[in-house]
Order: sequence, then structure tokens, then C-alpha cells
Amino acid sequence: MPERIVDLRSDTVTKPTEEMREAMHRAPVGDDVYGEDPTVKALEELAAARMGMEAALFVPSGTMGNTCALLAHTHAGEEMVVEELAHISCWEAGNYANLAGLSIRPIRGEHGVFTPAQLEAALRSPENPHFARQTLLCLENTHNNAAGAVWTPAQVEAVAVAARGRGLAVHMDGARIFNAAVALGVDAREFTRHLDSVMFCVSKGLSAPVGSLLCGSRAFIAEAYRARKRLGGAMRQAGVIAAAGIVAIEQMVARLAEDHANARRLCEGLAQIPGITARQAPVPTNILMVDVAGLGWTAEELVTRWKAVGVLGNRRPPTAARLVTHRHISAADVDYTLEVTREMVQKQGG
Ligand SMILES: Cc1ncc(COP(=O)(O)O)c(C=O)c1O
Repeated sequence: MPERIVDLRSDTVTKPTEEMREAMHRAPVGDDVYGEDPTVKALEELAAARMGMEAALFVPSGTMGNTCALLAHTHAGEEMVVEELAHISCWEAGNYANLAGLSIRPIRGEHGVFTPAQLEAALRSPENPHFARQTLLCLENTHNNAAGAVWTPAQVEAVAVAARGRGLAVHMDGARIFNAAVALGVDAREFTRHLDSVMFCVSKGLSAPVGSLLCGSRAFIAEAYRARKRLGGAMRQAGVIAAAGIVAIEQMVARLAEDHANARRLCEGLAQIPGITARQAPVPTNILMVDVAGLGWTAEELVTRWKAVGVLGNRRPPTAARLVTHRHISAADVDYTLEVTREMVQKQGG
């Protein structure tokens, strides 16, 4: 095992801060199924306020938050419109189908973002009984599979207004919505103003150990509450973990800018190595995609070679890998990654 590990697989590997551990230790708790956990309540109120929504629900994972949103917004047999490579359609175990009973109408975005015209083209006639009723649009901000791409508030508004005009509810998978907000220097509420619901994670770049928040109207959250129960996500003295979520929201948002700066420098440095293509989205955040087709390597070969020198990434076959910066990645780790990658490529060439 190499001495130095630079773990760029995901921002989910971040560990709780000392302040989080202290808050978890001291958190007042109660049975949240009886509505008696003051720390969970405080986290839900804070989350709702930060998203400009009436209410919020604490759930164990982003996947559960998204699934609760599907169950609360739709009925089995209906259809969700969503970007082709969205997490909810590709990486959540097919929950939209096997738990919510939905079909999906995918739209191919550019850097994960699509236009109102593309949305219009994907909408089916509601009168025609040959089609499933389309009742939900899901947006992802930042878009994980599109190298952490940001939807701007104006882009969100344009498609959300069009979708709502056709009777669809609009949900945002905002697992990394604070990365989008920090990248653009805007308040997260600029994205959520035109939405019916948003899910965000405290367990990713914000460093909390567990948890996500689903936010929306009081009536929507009442439905989502039932859905969380159905999925087995109702928790008891959950204040122990909610306490870390409060610290995450209050203390960990602004520092995401450091992750963005490190990702940008890593991307620029890798892109200068002959044979490597490294890219981020037009508004970059903490994710980059690295392609080694130019070296004749597979994704597997790249990730294995990196691992041998302590750099960890996620393979994206056939020839790419995803790298994610976070609180445990320093500027020196970026330098190290660039240095060992240059050496790897030179060795291969010589
Ligand atoms: C965009 C996006 N949505 C949802 C999720 C799901 O979150 P969790 O792993 O907590 O279920 C992830 C996780 O990586 C994600 O990147």
C-alpha cells in the first residue's frame, strides 16, 4: 500500500469535523417517530429556511430523499421527464420504476443542462391515452455525471416555468446544490424559487457523516413523510446524526470554494499531459472527468495505475475516470496527483 493516499473517488468520503463530533455528543434527542427529537426538528427548520421552502424532512440518504419525492409527487403508471444521465435515472437502483412505478422520458442535455425547447419536444399530449401521463420533471444541480455541471437560476427558471405551465411538478436533485450556489456566488434560494421540491445532502462535500433533507410545501412534506415510513426511513434518536447536519449547513458551505479551486487546478494540470483529456463543465465545481483514450488505456488500467501510487478515482468505462475534490484534498495533494500522473504517462511512453 502506498504511504500517501489521495482519495478522489467522491466527496462522500469526507469525515465529520471536530465541531460535528462535539455537536453529536451533546445533541438533545428524542424519538423522532413521536415527533420528539428537537435536533431533527432544528435541522429540518434550518434546511427549509435555507431552501426557501415551508418544510423539510430528514432522511438517511439522497436516494431515499429522491424516492420519497417521487412517491409524494406521482402515482404508479405516470412518467417523469429527466436528463438522460441523471443520478435518479442511472444510479438509484431503478427506484423510479421498481418503487414508484414510473416510466422515464429522458432528455439529452449539454453538460447535463437542457433547454425549454428540448423539454417541449419531450412532453407528450396529455389527452392521448396511448401515453403515460407526465407529472414530474426532475433536474439535477450540480449534475454529477456531467462533471459537476451547474444549472444557473435562469436555466432552472426557464424549464421549470415551462414544465409547470404544462401541469408537471418540478423536483430538484440538489445533492450538491451548495456547490452550485458557491460556484455562481448566489443564494441557494435562487435555484429553488421555481421548484416544488428539492433534496440536498449534508453527507457529501459538507462533511456530515449521514443524511439528506427533502424540502417543499407543508402538504408535500406530509406526503413525503408517509413515503419515508413506507421505505423504512423513519428514525428514532436521529438527533445524534442531525446535529452534524446542522454544523454542515452552518459552517461548511463557504469552504466549498476551496474544493472548486483544487478541482480546477487538477483539471488544468491533467489536461496538459499529452494523451490525457480532462474536462469540467462550463461553470466548474468539484468534479472532473479524465479520459485516457489518447494513451490507449482503459478506465480500468488508469484507475489501477493510479491506485498503485495512492491516487483513488472512480472508473467511467470505457476510457475515463471521475475525480472529486473535497475537504481532505489539499493543494499539495493536487500537486502530488499531477506529478505521479506525469511520471506514469512518461514511463508508458518510454
Ligand atoms: C446527484 C446525486 N443525487 C443523489 C445521490 C444519492 O445520494 P446517497 O448516496 O446519499 O443515496 C448522489 C450520490 O452520489 C448524487 O451524486
